Amino acid sequence: MKKLENLEKFALENYVPIIRKDNIEYLEKIIKENKLYNILELGSAIGYSAIRMALVDKNVRITTIERDFTMVNLARKNIEDFGLENQINLIHEDIFNIKTTDKFDLIFIDAAKAQYIKFFNKFKNNLKDNGVIISDNLELLDLQKLTQSKRSKRLVEKMNEYKEFLNSLEDYKSEYLEIGDGFAITKKVL
Ligand SMILES: C[S@@+](CC[C@H](N)C(=O)[O-])C[C@H]1O[C@@H](n2cnc3c(N)ncnc32)[C@H](O)[C@@H]1O
Repeated sequence: MKKLENLEKFALENYVPIIRKDNIEYLEKIIKENKLYNILELGSAIGYSAIRMALVDKNVRITTIERDFTMVNLARKNIEDFGLENQINLIHEDIFNIKTTDKFDLIFIDAAKAQYIKFFNKFKNNLKDNGVIISDNLELLDLQKLTQSKRSKRLVEKMNEYKEFLNSLEDYKSEYLEIGDGFAITKKVL
């Protein structure tokens, strides 16, 4: 079986952005504690976070969506290497083309950062009443450290817009965790 460290090394060496250590550990913990077994992940990359979430419990079922052909092939191979094909449904598609009426305990948003509001709106009705939407990279720390380019400033603006958007929702409550690159935890107000 492939080791998780191999995937981490591959991601680092090939500049594939994968979830930070603190953030995945937080996800693993809440999945376990709250039995969040039906998971939708937006943005698979090489399958690293999906694999880690699936390894939490054999009852975990993940639908993960990725549009990049190279990433999908790598993710598929990694999922097979871990023997997790029965738990992880990898879909090669643009997120905006996906139509589903399935309901999830956890929706993990980790795809194009400029599109978070659209992702949220597209899938909010797929959240179970007691479910949670978790959005990654709210603080964009790596980006802010690395560059002051127009693009990175625009992305920081976009993330701030996303926070304002979340805060404006009356039927959802969000909290922001300063772990790793920043998480937004959003739940329905029941
Ligand atoms: C940060 S990476 C995902 C990392 C992964 N969740 C992990 O932690 O192991 C974001 C991925 O989202 C994909 N992506 C971005 N926008 C997308 C879209 N509209 N549809 C499908 N995939 C998208 C990118 O190709 C990229 O591989």
